[in-house]
Amino acid sequence: MGLSKTFSASDVSVHSTFASRYIRDKPAKYKMPENSTPKEVAYQVISDELMLDGKPRLNLASFVTTWMEPECDKLIMDSMNKNYVDMDEYPVTTELQNRCVNMIADLFNAPHKESDEAATGTGTVGSSEAIMLAGLAFKRKWQNKRKAEGKPYDRPNIVTGANVQVCWEKFARYFEVELKEVKVTEDYYVMDPVKAVELVDENTICVAAILGSTYNGEFEDVKLLNDLLLEKNKQTGWDTPIHVDAASGGFIAPFLYPELEWDFRLPLVKSINVSGHKYGLVYAGVGWIIWRSKEDLPEDLIFHINYLGADQPTFTLNFSKGSSQIIAQYYQLIRQGFEGYRNIMENCHNNAMVLKAGLEKTERFKILSKDIGVPVVAFSLKDRSHYDEYMVSEHLRRFGWIVPAYSMPEDAKHVALLRVVIREDFSRTLAERLVFDITHVLKELDKLPLPSVSPNGGDDHVCINGGICNGNMKTLVAKKKISDIDLKEEDCIPKLAKSA
Ligand SMILES: Cc1ncc(COP(=O)(O)O)c(C=O)c1O
Repeated sequence: MGLSKTFSASDVSVHSTFASRYIRDKPAKYKMPENSTPKEVAYQVISDELMLDGKPRLNLASFVTTWMEPECDKLIMDSMNKNYVDMDEYPVTTELQNRCVNMIADLFNAPHKESDEAATGTGTVGSSEAIMLAGLAFKRKWQNKRKAEGKPYDRPNIVTGANVQVCWEKFARYFEVELKEVKVTEDYYVMDPVKAVELVDENTICVAAILGSTYNGEFEDVKLLNDLLLEKNKQTGWDTPIHVDAASGGFIAPFLYPELEWDFRLPLVKSINVSGHKYGLVYAGVGWIIWRSKEDLPEDLIFHINYLGADQPTFTLNFSKGSSQIIAQYYQLIRQGFEGYRNIMENCHNNAMVLKAGLEKTERFKILSKDIGVPVVAFSLKDRSHYDEYMVSEHLRRFGWIVPAYSMPEDAKHVALLRVVIREDFSRTLAERLVFDITHVLKELDKLPLPSVSPNGGDDHVCINGGICNGNMKTLVAKKKISDIDLKEEDCIPKLAKSA
């Protein structure tokens, strides 16, 4: 193997630890380097740079798993080199994925295997891919029905809340389906089932409900939606189904709220997605889509591939991918069992309550998440006249915490909030510490002078988070670059905020 020319092999410094001793040039960014790099150096250069990333366990923005047991880490490493799609070559991996589908379908109360309605499903890269597949199945099924009836089939739509995750917008745009969104309002941040059913028409391929809104973790009322839609279907003769986006709630509700009816117990629920990499407790890269029955997945969407060996029915968007995540999911399902998942989810819920209580004690925040839902704590400042949620978020970074600030969807956009996702690896001690640090940040921010209105636009008007605000800091537009913002005279920012 050719060695990098930055040192000679006889150089004693070859044995020193830090890559900076060998590599003095700029890192390769635009063009592959001419020469090879010794593996130790390549490793060190990259790991040094990665040190500047945040710490995943302190990343409270993400639902995605950041810790797994070392035994599972080992299984993951052991199977890194297996391509999941080579099902004939790796039949055990395929068998493990089938077992995962069975267990998750059972968890979601899918009709029993022996009945005609046996559920079917597949592993995906995450909920986004799962949602693309579910949406495609609804679209194709609706189109087939409309064709058979001799009716137009060129204007399909999906009804959702405006609080849907971006993957639904992607689905709508990529697969040419109109997204009919139920507006959220101040103090009601999820889809109202009554309004959703009003939006349903003969072109609606499904209504998508969310079990665990990305914004505040709140569960949408799938039972009410089901009942109202049953009634509408009866009146109109339509057959509009429901999809449940249970990306995060799918591994919460069965353990914490077993009585809550949101899944295949409801007859109109035809498919459900869940992210294995969120509360399924696996690292990023796995999701699941389950259909109530084979009937709900049109046969013409399934590809039968046989050039790698035996016949392989597949319904995925990509072809090759790693096997590790599937294996890790199976590990978690058997390792935790129902008991383990329930304990972990209860613990997450309890820690969310500790955090919520701590925040309430400060009397400075309004809590926007619900006690029943995904264990997230979403909160906004009661008084935003002095500073805003974006500044609290920015200041928390100094303590290592990554707590995102963002605004609610259209029609409630003026409501900004901070959100903490409580995962398995977020302990009670960390919850208490976070409250302590937030209190500290508030005290610091309180000392900032009150914002003053400046007549001039310009760089000194940029908020610490890159947004702008008006004189009262009532409206805040989160934008990254000042050049993106059309500054008006009335826009202002507390000057100190920038240097804080
Ligand atoms: C409700 C909801 N749906 C879908 C997704 C997309 O999930 P994934 O990241 O698994 O693709 C998310 C991600 O946060 C989500 O919260």
